[in-house]
Amino acid sequence: MTETRDDTDVVDLLTTDHHDVLSMLQEIRISTDPGRRRELADVVIGELVRHSVAEEMFVYPAMRRHLPGGDEAVEHDVAEHKELERLMKRWEGVEPSDADFDVVLDELEPVLRDHVQDEESEQFPELRAHIPRQELVHLAGQVEAAKRAAPTRPHPLAPNNALFHFLVGPGVGLVDRLRDSWTGRPNQS
Ligand SMILES: [Fe+2]
Ligand SMILES: [Fe+2]
Repeated sequence: MTETRDDTDVVDLLTTDHHDVLSMLQEIRISTDPGRRRELADVVIGELVRHSVAEEMFVYPAMRRHLPGGDEAVEHDVAEHKELERLMKRWEGVEPSDADFDVVLDELEPVLRDHVQDEESEQFPELRAHIPRQELVHLAGQVEAAKRAAPTRPHPLAPNNALFHFLVGPGVGLVDRLRDSWTGRPNQS
């Protein structure tokens, strides 16, 4: 039976993503194996980029349409995604043996926690209050599909909007995945 999966709404899906990424950050903190730390950081980067792109393509437009003050909330959230992308771009190029690896982790984690807190305590409950459940379940499917095609690497200089990602994103995602497979970098799709 696929009932449980079909019934997942976009809030459950995105909340699970948040918690998966935050628990990987904790694992990076306690791990002493440089290879494992690099691998986990790469998975975090890939997951977070795909999560952010999918939110910006499908969830933030719904926030703009349905939430009181939605435009301001989206602008704030998009600016935080950009900040996270900028930090992840730096993180991508730093070896775990370099002290800067932990410096970037220490900068990234509070930005992410703050962002997750805003979404989970304010915007997600508002989405559930203003959008019929059936539509939230439909949005979950759109987010899952977007994550499969989205870039897996940060592109902080690229425009972060739906038009860019519809037109160019699948190509960028394809190039990212080719680079991932050439370099043996893990990604989860
Ligand atoms: Fe999120
Ligand atoms: Fe977000």
